[in-house]
Amino acid sequence: MAHSPLDIDEMREPIEHRSVRRPRVLSGIAPSGSLTLGNYLGALRRFVDGQPSHQGFFFVADLHATTIEHDPARLRALTWETARLFFAAGLDSEQSTVFVQSHVPAHVELAYLLESTAYVGELSRMIQFKEKGGRPRTRASLFTYPCLMAADILLYEPRSVPVGGDQDQHVELCRDVATRFNRQYGETFVVPSLDKAGLASRVADLLDPRSKMSKSAPAGAPGVVRMLDTPDVIRRKINRAVTDSHAEVRYDPVSRPGVSNLLDVIAVVSDRSPDDLATDFASYADLKRSCIDHVVELLAPVQRRYAELAQDQGHLISLLDAGATQAVVAAGPVLARARDAVGLV
Ligand code: TYM
Repeated sequence: MAHSPLDIDEMREPIEHRSVRRPRVLSGIAPSGSLTLGNYLGALRRFVDGQPSHQGFFFVADLHATTIEHDPARLRALTWETARLFFAAGLDSEQSTVFVQSHVPAHVELAYLLESTAYVGELSRMIQFKEKGGRPRTRASLFTYPCLMAADILLYEPRSVPVGGDQDQHVELCRDVATRFNRQYGETFVVPSLDKAGLASRVADLLDPRSKMSKSAPAGAPGVVRMLDTPDVIRRKINRAVTDSHAEVRYDPVSRPGVSNLLDVIAVVSDRSPDDLATDFASYADLKRSCIDHVVELLAPVQRRYAELAQDQGHLISLLDAGATQAVVAAGPVLARARDAVGLV
């Protein structure tokens, strides 16, 4: 009997998800620092918002955090913290598959096959590698990192990959490598599309609004709002945000990046347009007050749930174990197809 495309899609799904026909999405966050407001608005909050309509695979990308010098105890602590934040933000293991990347060995195995598909030239062009790498003691894994990220994605056949703007180039590379692999070895991978973050695609550092707000900034960096910052700390950081010397509040990301960044944050949180919002504020002090209120209110329920989850590490471990078991089942058929396609017996 001929199958409709939907039936075939369904057959590839883990058994426990077969009755639920939702398009798949996948994304990960590296535990390379305590998560920021940028990670939340550009990624995590979007994972949660998409849950009712999409079948999600979301993971803590711990292997990616070893591509630069790291402290093992800190990596362990940040892996737990990030996983706890996933659930505290609202990811639900009944609806989504939530796991730690290194618990699913297929990621590393497929990454190797993709390293044998990607070219040195294209990997050398990756902005993140050019920024952080290129020195004699740069870890080899920083260079091949986009192949691991491509494996993360392709194993689960997502229709789209929600990421912030800094990851667009890596998702494009994944698409190129998957297309090349399919051409060389026969149809093996589903080529996913990017899911751009719109206004939240690049929350900027409050003190250096031409740079992104980065979780790998030093702890206590005043331009970086962390998801677990207390209301007082959030207030202090936003009050110190760089603005400019103009009198009126206007949205102009090119010539007024600091003010526009604060407007973007409020716009994303309140689902309004930043141009329109700008007219609400008589002064920069007003704008900052509103931004503080929105961010504090946004993070409060997440922080409350985080505190509850922190009381029960056993529960967190059992959620992640169950997620890894589902992920292993989901990833198996794609890895088997890729092994077969390249001629492994
Ligand atoms: P990572 O851990 O640097 O960032 C996690 C997610 O947060 C987004 N993001 C931001 N969005 C808006 N404004 C910001 N200031 C900001 N900072 C970070 C990132 O774009 C990302 O979506 N390599 C990835 C993790 C990864 C992954 C994957 C993602 C590994 N495998 C497979 C998608 C699919 C990374 O390091 O993101």
